[in-house]
Amino acid sequence: MNKLTLLTLALMIFAGFSCNRKVETETVSLETGWKFKTGDDLSWASPEFNDSQWDTINPDKHWEEQGYNLVDGFAWYRIKMIIPSSLINQAFIKDSLQFLLGRIDDCDQVFLNGELIGENGRTIYNKTSPNPEFFKERSCWREKRRYLLASGDQRIHWDKENVLAVRVFDQGGAGGMFSSPFLISMTGLQDHVLYDFSGSAFTFEGDSVIGKKFVLQNLSGNEEFKGKLDISAYSSEKGNLLWSESWPVNLQPKMKQEIAISIKMDITRPSILKLAFHETNTGDVLVKEMEIPYIQTPPAPSEPRINGAKVFGVRPHAPFLFKVPATGKPPLKYSASNLPQGLSINNETGIITGSISKKGEYTVKLKVVNSLASTEKEFRIVVGDLISLTPPLGWNSWNCWGLSVSDKKVRESASQMKSSGLIDHGWTYVNIDDGWEDKHDKDGNILPNAKFPNMKALSDYVHSLGLKIGIYSSPGPKTCGGYEGSYTFEEKDARAYASWGIDYLKYDWCSYWNIAPNPTPDQLKFPYREMHRALRKTGRDIHYSLCQYGMGEVWTWGAEVGGNSWRTTGDIEDTWESLSSIGFSQNKSALYSAPGHWNDPDMLVVGWVGWGPALHYTNLTPNEQYTHITLWSLLASPLLIGCDLSQLDPFTLNLLTNDEVLAVNQDPLGQQAVQVKQTETYEIWARDLEDGTKAVGLFNKTEKPLYVPVEMADLLLGGKCSLRDLWRQSDLGWVKSHFEMRTEPHGARMILLGRQK
Ligand code: GLA
Repeated sequence: MNKLTLLTLALMIFAGFSCNRKVETETVSLETGWKFKTGDDLSWASPEFNDSQWDTINPDKHWEEQGYNLVDGFAWYRIKMIIPSSLINQAFIKDSLQFLLGRIDDCDQVFLNGELIGENGRTIYNKTSPNPEFFKERSCWREKRRYLLASGDQRIHWDKENVLAVRVFDQGGAGGMFSSPFLISMTGLQDHVLYDFSGSAFTFEGDSVIGKKFVLQNLSGNEEFKGKLDISAYSSEKGNLLWSESWPVNLQPKMKQEIAISIKMDITRPSILKLAFHETNTGDVLVKEMEIPYIQTPPAPSEPRINGAKVFGVRPHAPFLFKVPATGKPPLKYSASNLPQGLSINNETGIITGSISKKGEYTVKLKVVNSLASTEKEFRIVVGDLISLTPPLGWNSWNCWGLSVSDKKVRESASQMKSSGLIDHGWTYVNIDDGWEDKHDKDGNILPNAKFPNMKALSDYVHSLGLKIGIYSSPGPKTCGGYEGSYTFEEKDARAYASWGIDYLKYDWCSYWNIAPNPTPDQLKFPYREMHRALRKTGRDIHYSLCQYGMGEVWTWGAEVGGNSWRTTGDIEDTWESLSSIGFSQNKSALYSAPGHWNDPDMLVVGWVGWGPALHYTNLTPNEQYTHITLWSLLASPLLIGCDLSQLDPFTLNLLTNDEVLAVNQDPLGQQAVQVKQTETYEIWARDLEDGTKAVGLFNKTEKPLYVPVEMADLLLGGKCSLRDLWRQSDLGWVKSHFEMRTEPHGARMILLGRQK
C-alpha cells in the first residue's frame, strides 16, 4: 500500500510552470511504492494480479540506471494507492482528477483498476480496449504524461484501493518512466489557466527597451477566471525591482487575453520577469518566473574586422571555396596577397575560388578595407590530405524543419545566412538533413523527391553566396525518416553528390540495424569505410560526418574510417536535461579531437526549433543557451545552427556572432576542452589555444546563482594571468592563485586566461 502524502503545499513544477498556490492542495504521491517487471502480459493490468514477487523501482530514473541494462522492449510498472474523496471536497474546481506520471521512454498504456485510461500522453476518455500498435508511435517520449479523468469516472474507486499499471515499450536507448512529478491531484488554477509565451520571442528596441507579448489562456470549457495580473522585472544580480505593471484579467471559458509589455532597462544585465495572477474566485495565485534574455556581446565595430578560421585545409586539385568573413561598415573591399597559384579573390564579395595543384602550406595575408580603416589577417592554407582543419560552422535543417525540409527552405536559409550577417562571422555550411530523397532509378542513380526539383541549381545558388552545401544519407536501405538510403549504392550516390557540388555528407546509421543487428566492431566500421572510399574517389572535398550516436566508442576509430566528425550521442532536445547530460558527458572523447577529426555532441537548439512544420521558440532559458554555445565552443564541436533563420531574434543572433567565442571553437590547435572540475553544483572545463592562452568555461548546474571558485593550480597555471570575459569581450584584470565568478542559474562564464609575458 502506498503512503498518502496529504496537504502538499506550493511549488508544483509541471509543464514548465512554477506555480505558487495560496491554497493548500491535497495530493496522492506516486513517488514511491512502484513494482516492476520486464516482459509483457496484459493480465498484469488486472487489479487482482499478485505482483508481490516483482522488483521495486524508482519511477524517476530510467531502468538502465537501476540495473536493467540494455533492456529494450516491454516492461510493466504497478502501484497501489487509495484515492480519498477529500481530494474533491477540498478542491475549488471539482470536475477533474489528474494522474501525473512524469515522462515515459518511449511509449505507454496506463490502466487504472484494469481499464485503459491513457496512451502515449493522451487520455482515453471512454472504456476501450488497448491498441496493440501503441508501441510503434515515434517521439512520444518527449510528452509529459498527464492523464485527466472526470471526477465521476467509474474507473476511479474513491476511498478504496486503486491499482495503476503502466505498460511501457522502449524503442531503444534508455527506457522506462523518468522525470517527476508522479502524483494524483484534482486540477487547480494552474491546470486551467496557461501563460503561453510561445507566440513570439523577446524583442529589443535600441539598447534600453525589451518587449514581450504573451497570452493568458483559459483552457476550461466551464470555469470563468478573473482577477489581477501583476507583472514585474527584477535584477537577478541585485534583486531590486526594475519595473512593474498590473493588468485586469477577465477570462471567460476558453478565452484568451493578450498581454504586451515593454520594459525600459539595461538589456545587457541578467534579470527576471515575474508574473502573478491573483484569481478572485479560487483565491489562488498563479506565479511564473522566467529569465529575460540579455545581450552580452557588444556590436562589432564599424572599422573592418576579419573573423573566422585562421587555417583552411584543402586537397590538391579539389575545388576551393572560402568566403573571407569580415564585419565593418559597408561597403568592404577584400584583397589577399600571397594567394597560392590557382586561387583568386573577388574584391567585392571576398570569395576565394579556384584550385591548387601542389601540396604544401601557404600563408596568405587577407586584407579588408572600408571608408574608416583597413585591417589584415594571416590565413594559412594547407594543401594536403586533411580537410576541415577547424570544426564546421553552419546550419542544418533537422532541428527546425525535420522531414518537411524543401528546396525553398534551404535557399531561404542560405540567403538568410548572408542577410543576417552570420556569414561575416564564419558561418558557412547550409546542410540538408533527412527528407530530400526519392528513389534510385533503374540505373541506380539517386533521385531527389519533388521538394527538391534541381539539386545542382540549389547548390550553385548556395555556392554563389560563398556558402557550402551539405546533404544526408544512411548506409542502410532506409534513412531514419524512412527515405531511401545508400545501401549498395555508395559509389553512385557519392558521384551524384559530387556532381551536384555537395560539400558535406552526414551519414546516419538508421536502418543499418537490419544489416547488422548486433554489430561487431568491424561491422560498425565497415559501412563508414565504404562510403569514405566512394567519397574520396569523387575528387571533391566533402566533409564526412558520421552519425551513429556514439556506438562502439566511435571517437576511438572515427578518424580511421575517414570521418571528419562523428556524433558522440543520441539526438539532442531543447531541454536542460538533454543539453546538460550530453554536454557534460563529453570528457570521454576529448583526447580524440584534432584538426580534421571532431567529436560532435549534436546540433544547436537555440532559436525557433520544432523538428517539423510547427516551430516553437527553444525551451532553453537564456542562460542555458549561453551554456550551450560556451560548452560546444570549448568542445571544438561542429556548430550547426538548428533554427529557422528567417526568425532570428536579436538575442539568438547575438549569441551566434561573438567572434571571440567562435575563435575558441575555431582555434587551429583543435584541442577539445577537458573537464577540470566536477562537483554537484558546478563544472569547469578548459582548453589550450594555439597562442598559449587558455579558454575556460565555468558552469553553474543549479537553479540559483552561484559563485564558481577557480583554483589556478587546477588549470595548471602558475603565476599571474590576465582574465578576459569572452562573452562581454572585456578585460577583467589579473588573477594569481584563486578567483571566483558569479554564474547565473544553469548559466556559464567563458573566460580567457593569458600568462603574464
Ligand atoms: C537521426 C539523427 C538526426 C536526424 C534524423 C533524421 O535521428 O540522429 O540528427 O538526422 O535521424 O531522420
